[in-house]
Amino acid sequence: MGPGPINADPRVLRAMSAQLVGQYDPAMTAYMNETMELYRGVFRTANAATLVVDGTSRAGIEAALVSLIEPGDRVLVPVFGRFGHLLREIAERCGAEVHVVEREWGTVFTPAEIERAIVETRPKLVAIVHGDTSTTLAQPLDELGALCDKHGALLYTDATASLGGNLFEVDAWGIDVATAGLQKCLAGPSGSAPITLSERAVGVVNARKSIEAGIRSVGDAVSASPIRSNYFDLAMILDYWGPKRLNHHTEATTMLYGARECARLLVEEGMPEAVERHRLHGSAMVAGLVGLGLELFGDQGVRMNNVVGVEIPAGIDGDAARAALLADYGIEIGTSFGPLHGRVWRIGTMGYNARRDTVLTTLAALEQVLRRGGVPVTAGGGVGAAIDFYGER
Ligand SMILES: Cc1ncc(COP(=O)(O)O)c(C=O)c1O
Repeated sequence: MGPGPINADPRVLRAMSAQLVGQYDPAMTAYMNETMELYRGVFRTANAATLVVDGTSRAGIEAALVSLIEPGDRVLVPVFGRFGHLLREIAERCGAEVHVVEREWGTVFTPAEIERAIVETRPKLVAIVHGDTSTTLAQPLDELGALCDKHGALLYTDATASLGGNLFEVDAWGIDVATAGLQKCLAGPSGSAPITLSERAVGVVNARKSIEAGIRSVGDAVSASPIRSNYFDLAMILDYWGPKRLNHHTEATTMLYGARECARLLVEEGMPEAVERHRLHGSAMVAGLVGLGLELFGDQGVRMNNVVGVEIPAGIDGDAARAALLADYGIEIGTSFGPLHGRVWRIGTMGYNARRDTVLTTLAALEQVLRRGGVPVTAGGGVGAAIDFYGER
C-alpha cells in the first residue's frame, strides 16, 4: 500500500507466464498491434504512434526526451517535486538549455505561472510531470496543451504515477508526448513504458531519423543530427513497431505480455470506471486517516486519487512504524524523499490494491501500530470513518 510498485493483478502474472514467441512471429506482431490499440484506449488518444518502450518508466522518459531534444534546444521544466528534478536532469544530459521554475513541494502551478515562464524562456519543449509521486499531487494539465501550442512549444508529460487512476486525456488536453509505467495504477510490474506521440512529435523525431548501418537500405535516412541514443531512438523504434518492422532490439516478450494484459484490464473496466474506482478507495483511505486524527500533506484539491501523503505524528519514529506494519501485518507503506523524508508517509490505493478490503485492513493495522508507538488515536476511528464513507455510496 505504498506509492508503487504495488501487487500485480493475478491476470497480469498469468499472462507473463506464457511461452516466448519470436518478435517476427505473426502471433507476436499481432500482439504488438493489439497492444498499440489498447494503449490508445488507456491514453485516450488516436495517435498512431502509441507503443511500449522496453525498460522502466524512466526508459520512456529518456526515449521521449532524447528523441525530441537536440543539443542546444531550450526546454522549460516546471518542478513541483522529485520527478520534476528527474526531467530536468535527463533534459540536461540530452544537451538542452534547461530553464526551471519551481513550486514548493505540496503545491502545483497555475496555468498563468507556466505561461509566464513559457513567454520568458521561449522553449521548444515544455516537460512536466503529471502526478508527482513524491508529493502525491497532480498538476492540472487540461489548459497546458493549448498554451504550449499558442507559443509554439511541444508538451511532454510523465504520467507514470497518475495514468489509470486519474483523468488523463492525451488528445483532449493537447499533449504531444506522454509516457508511463506499469507498476502503479496499471497493476503490473515495472519494466515496460507505454508511450504515445502526436503527429507533430513524430515529425520532430523522424526529422532526425538515422537508420543504423548493417540494416540500412539504399535511400534510407542518415541524419546529420541523429538522436543521441540508439536504444531509445524513437525514430527507429517507431519503424520497429510500424509496418516496416525494422530490426531494432529483441522484444522483451514477457514484458509485452504483461503490458498488454495491464491495458486489457483497464480497457475492459473502462477508463472512467477505473478512475472512479481509484477515487472511491483513495477517498475512503483519506476518510480513515482523518478518522485516526492524522494530518494530510499538501494541497488536497489536487491530490492524486491513488496516493495520499500523511504527516507522521509527533513522538513516533516513522521508519520504525513502517517496519512494524510490514513485519506484523505484511503491509508496506511508503516513506518520502528530500524535504519530506522523516516527515511524511505516502499511502497508496492503486491498481490491484485499490480495493475496500485493502483500505480497511491497512487502517486497522495502522491504528495498532500508532497505538503501540504511543500516539493517542480513537479506537476504531480509521476503519469506522472509511466504512461510513463507503456506506454513503
Ligand atoms: C512520476 C514518476 N516518474 C518516474 C518514475 C521513475 O520510474 P521507474 O522507477 O519505473 O523508472 C517514477 C517512479 O516511481 C514516478 O513515480
